[in-house]
Amino acid sequence: MEPAKQRASRSTEPVNNAPQLTFSVLTLFPELLRPFTEEALLGKARDKGLLAYRLIDLRSYAGNKHNKVDDSPYGGGAGMVIRVDVVARALEALSAEGSGTDAPDEVILLTPAGPRFDQRTAEELAGKRHIALLCGRYEGFDARTESLVTRELSLGDFVMMGGEAAAACVMEAVGRLVSGVIGDEASHLQDSFSSGLLDYPEYTRPVSWQGEDVPPELLSGNHAAIERWRRDQALGRTLERRPDLLPHANLTPLDSAALLTLGVSAEQLEVWGAPPPPKVKRKRKRGE
Ligand SMILES: C[S@@+](CC[C@H](N)C(=O)[O-])C[C@H]1O[C@@H](n2cnc3c(N)ncnc32)[C@H](O)[C@@H]1O
Repeated sequence: MEPAKQRASRSTEPVNNAPQLTFSVLTLFPELLRPFTEEALLGKARDKGLLAYRLIDLRSYAGNKHNKVDDSPYGGGAGMVIRVDVVARALEALSAEGSGTDAPDEVILLTPAGPRFDQRTAEELAGKRHIALLCGRYEGFDARTESLVTRELSLGDFVMMGGEAAAACVMEAVGRLVSGVIGDEASHLQDSFSSGLLDYPEYTRPVSWQGEDVPPELLSGNHAAIERWRRDQALGRTLERRPDLLPHANLTPLDSAALLTLGVSAEQLEVWGAPPPPKVKRKRKRGE
């Protein structure tokens, strides 16, 4: 995987006006996603030529006069299943010469049965040129669709009515990592998960609100102290809310020292593979 810092230093100028990343969404409800790709930062990224979106109606590839894309499941049972030949035709058209883009370098089937989508996957996908997102409806796709895709992704352990909301989430999470899409390149490097930890808490005006004050460290003007306070807060939050992330975080000796003061044992730090805390130098007494 390309390190986040390296990605962040890429040029923000689209090469030959080609978008850095194209999302092709194959769906039975393209209009559900239209406003999503036209508003806010995803819309701005498209206006700047950084991202492109193609909303493809699977019904256009039904291959029959009733535009029927689904059929009842073999073996019986409730619901309808989306046909594999319909998906294959839609994907072929996407890769065909004259389609306006290169063939997708990722074809992703959105399904609750896939591996869970996370920040690491978003970072990996942000380095692609063309991602096709396959949104199901009804009982989902014919199982043979799996042979047409490069990976499956799930949004979590729940079942939605369709894959469109999942496609929107993937476009949001991946799109914001593409260089130039969000204003401050540094900001996503501190986001929850990017550094391996949850993000630290943020405050803005007013300094005092209903008896709750902004922590004095943030008002000190001492940048090193602010950085350390933020890192300690991120460590504390992660320890409290998502300790499962700590073994994978890039911990420093100072982080280990902070975790010890938060009550983590030296044995636990070792289990997580954290480096030992810095040795505290004892001041020499006169005559020693
Ligand atoms: C009603 S669901 C089908 C669920 C399927 N019968 C199952 O239990 O795995 C219809 C479509 O919604 C999408 N979907 C639902 N939940 C999802 C999730 N957690 N992650 C990603 N896609 C999801 C998928 O594209 C799926 O094909």
